[in-house]
Amino acid sequence: MAMAESRTEAPAAANPRNLPLQTRVGVGPPSNRTGYKSFTAGDFAFHRDSYFTHIIWPGGRHQMPVDTFLRALMRDVAWNFFYGTVNFDLVFGTTNFYGEVEMFAGATNEAFVAAGRDFVQRFKSEELMGIFKAMIGDWTNAGYDPFAAPMETGAPWGTKNGDNERAVTRLRVTAARMVGLPGDVPKRSDGNGFPVNRMFADVAQDEPEVHAEPGFEGEVAAFNLFAYLSRSDVTWNPSVCSILRESLFCPTSEEFTLPVEHGNDRVEWFVQLSDEIIWAIKDRDTGRYRAQVVCKAGDVCCMPADIRHQGFSEKRSMLLVWENASAKIPELIRQGKAPNVPVIF
Ligand code: PHB
Ligand code: FE
Repeated sequence: MAMAESRTEAPAAANPRNLPLQTRVGVGPPSNRTGYKSFTAGDFAFHRDSYFTHIIWPGGRHQMPVDTFLRALMRDVAWNFFYGTVNFDLVFGTTNFYGEVEMFAGATNEAFVAAGRDFVQRFKSEELMGIFKAMIGDWTNAGYDPFAAPMETGAPWGTKNGDNERAVTRLRVTAARMVGLPGDVPKRSDGNGFPVNRMFADVAQDEPEVHAEPGFEGEVAAFNLFAYLSRSDVTWNPSVCSILRESLFCPTSEEFTLPVEHGNDRVEWFVQLSDEIIWAIKDRDTGRYRAQVVCKAGDVCCMPADIRHQGFSEKRSMLLVWENASAKIPELIRQGKAPNVPVIF
């Protein structure tokens, strides 16, 4: 995931809706019919059946195919609620206030808001995260990996059938400085459990030669990022591969769809390193369509801070997501002191 550890030094969480904190969370016993547990957080209740996740709140209900829900939930868990808003679909999602988090139904959907039917509650991040982790653990069956491309995993359907704890508790990769440095995140190889993915069989695996001046051997390093990404076992999961102060390079390998519509709270750069991703761009708050952006290898684009976006990649591709992790940016943008775009010509 793409958050710097320095994120935890953020100032007191902003609370633009002025919502009280909900503290009630609960886990119900396994259903006699499906075998799955049910969960509550505040006034939201969640259960799953063979095909769907059902979400119920005072005055409303919603359902999503369970594969869509689990892929999105997996990202929200692994990214610790990410930057800004994680829309699981057009109705349900979370907005990160870094220490506290809003969970909503309809709050980023123009029709819900216009009808006064949106519902939002606020939680301590670690409390809601506890429920989300329990949910992804209980609702993921043996053989299903919500991080994997659909053609590389089994199916999530049916009644409760084992689990896949190894897949849903993967440790996120966050380099302290850069992949490959002594003591930092290691490079990937056949030997440490990362074979080259079937779609990247043509990616060269040679490593750069480093010829450091005497005395600087421990300070100069390089690695083959293409080889590193060709060996990723997950999709749509940016990991911090190099970091300089607030500047985070978070490359990732992408196949099928980004499982969430990400609503930004800052600008975010995409460098398309290989192949092609189509981005659907919508207004962050209403969901109205704004643009389709086709990024081909070598293209660079910047997502404004007032949109949501979802990517579509048929052929597994490599993407560099470049984030500014500064904790000050969302509030500066909310107050109109920083622009929604990276540059004004
Ligand atoms: C994003 O929301 O910007 C994002 C998330 C995951 C990815 C790529 C981009 O794999
Ligand atoms: Fe994004």
